Amino acid sequence: MTHQIIVTTSRRSTVELREQAEQWGKRLGVAFVERSGSLERLCQDNTAQGVLTVTDRRVSYHEPDSGLEYFFHPSMAKVRIHNLQVGRGDPMVTAMALQAGDSLLDCTVGRASDAIVAAHVVGTEGSVLGLEKVPVIAQLTIHGLATYQDSSARLTGLLRRIRVLQADYLDYLRQCPDAAFDVVYFDPVFHEPLEKSQAMAPLRKLADKQPVTPEALEEATRVCRRRVVIKQRYDTPLWAQLGITRTTKGGSSRIEYGIVEP
Ligand SMILES: C[S@@+](CC[C@H](N)C(=O)[O-])C[C@H]1O[C@@H](n2cnc3c(N)ncnc32)[C@H](O)[C@@H]1O
Repeated sequence: MTHQIIVTTSRRSTVELREQAEQWGKRLGVAFVERSGSLERLCQDNTAQGVLTVTDRRVSYHEPDSGLEYFFHPSMAKVRIHNLQVGRGDPMVTAMALQAGDSLLDCTVGRASDAIVAAHVVGTEGSVLGLEKVPVIAQLTIHGLATYQDSSARLTGLLRRIRVLQADYLDYLRQCPDAAFDVVYFDPVFHEPLEKSQAMAPLRKLADKQPVTPEALEEATRVCRRRVVIKQRYDTPLWAQLGITRTTKGGSSRIEYGIVEP
């Protein structure tokens, strides 16, 4: 099956939407196709697996064959920030020992939920840089962080403070100086999904699923000042593969954070 992607607009297009869709085509290095008929038909006619639609409501990526739809959304970040504000804590923040003023490198930024929570904690004196390898995820996250308007102006402000680069984390880490960030974080796709997290299903399907390698962990350990944190399912084979012995429980007992200090 082809992995080709195309870009189009909603059925009712305007000059502005068409221009925006053409820009998205350039950004992703894929063809813009005039909208005609269903997305399924459009993909078939262009031998494409997926189609990015630019509408006046949002920009979404669809794979009509599987019914997949993926778009940027702050997801659980709002609830998690509320938990922090009322003193309930957040297992990721605890595992990172993240504080105001810290710099965080989020190597697997995905939809940036974790990065948004981190931006809340590090505040305006700190910084959050996210990396994402899959172009359609990276570009939707970059666009979403720059344009999404939440009902909370404070949350919208957090989104605008996160910087995201479309990059492979190993390539990026290799060219970082020693101790460049307080914390380096990985949230790789779990080897088996937690059946509860249906919200994660589209991201999981699109994501790069390579596990963290010993080489990536070694680079991350060199690049962090305080610690490297890796999120996984409790029964992950990764702790053994990477020789990680220090772990803390996540919010649900089925999630663990592995911690490595330089
Ligand atoms: C489980 S998701 C992360 C979700 C994220 N923590 C959030 O809050 O939305 C893992 C992400 O890491 C990305 N990824 C996997 N390998 C990568 C690599 N080598 N470099 C950069 N990103 C990578 C995947 O494409 C996917 O989007």
